Amino acid sequence: MSFTLSTSQKLGCTRVAKTTAVAKRQGVSRVVKAAAASADVPDMGKRNVMNLLLVGAIGLPATSLIGGYAYFFVPPSAGGGGAGQPAKDANGNDIKKASWLKTHLPGDYSLTQGLKGDATYLIVKADGSLTDFGLNAVCTHLGCVVPWNKAENKFKCPCHGSQYNADGKVIRGPAPLSLALAHVVIDGNDTVTFTPWTEQDFRTGLQPWWK
Ligand code: FES
Repeated sequence: MSFTLSTSQKLGCTRVAKTTAVAKRQGVSRVVKAAAASADVPDMGKRNVMNLLLVGAIGLPATSLIGGYAYFFVPPSAGGGGAGQPAKDANGNDIKKASWLKTHLPGDYSLTQGLKGDATYLIVKADGSLTDFGLNAVCTHLGCVVPWNKAENKFKCPCHGSQYNADGKVIRGPAPLSLALAHVVIDGNDTVTFTPWTEQDFRTGLQPWWK
């Protein structure tokens, strides 16, 4: 059996065929685009790793910046402060009590390197032992190093004439304050060590100004 199509029927079939072809092409295009899009988006595991890297990249510098900013508001200590450290002689060697006392006689006031590198007097008492405190040699007026005057049994600052007694207490201005104290401790290796003096100043009965 055969059919003969009219002209209008042929045109209708042609339009249907074209529409079907276009629809197929669009469908394929959407599938291709969807496939391309899914290839561009990383899976959940990769996204989590990328998020962690991002947090680390931003968080670490931010933390260090905030820490530095906060540290800016911590007031510096004046003299002393921090952990103890060995007293050092003029050559930078740790001072050992026994050998020091062989060469430093009673009444000796010698400069050593103390806390924070400040010049600090190590004192030998009349009985030949060390005092349990050292004296920071920095004048409390304008910071000159104050020499010990053995003949007058006191410290006399050469810069503006301030004076301190044998314990470092100020007895004449313009220096406003006594010399800062540090504890003298002998460790198990006979090393002379300075540690911060944070309690009451035995010379004045006041809290230490250098704390
Ligand atoms: S610096 Fe010592 S009296 Fe001025």
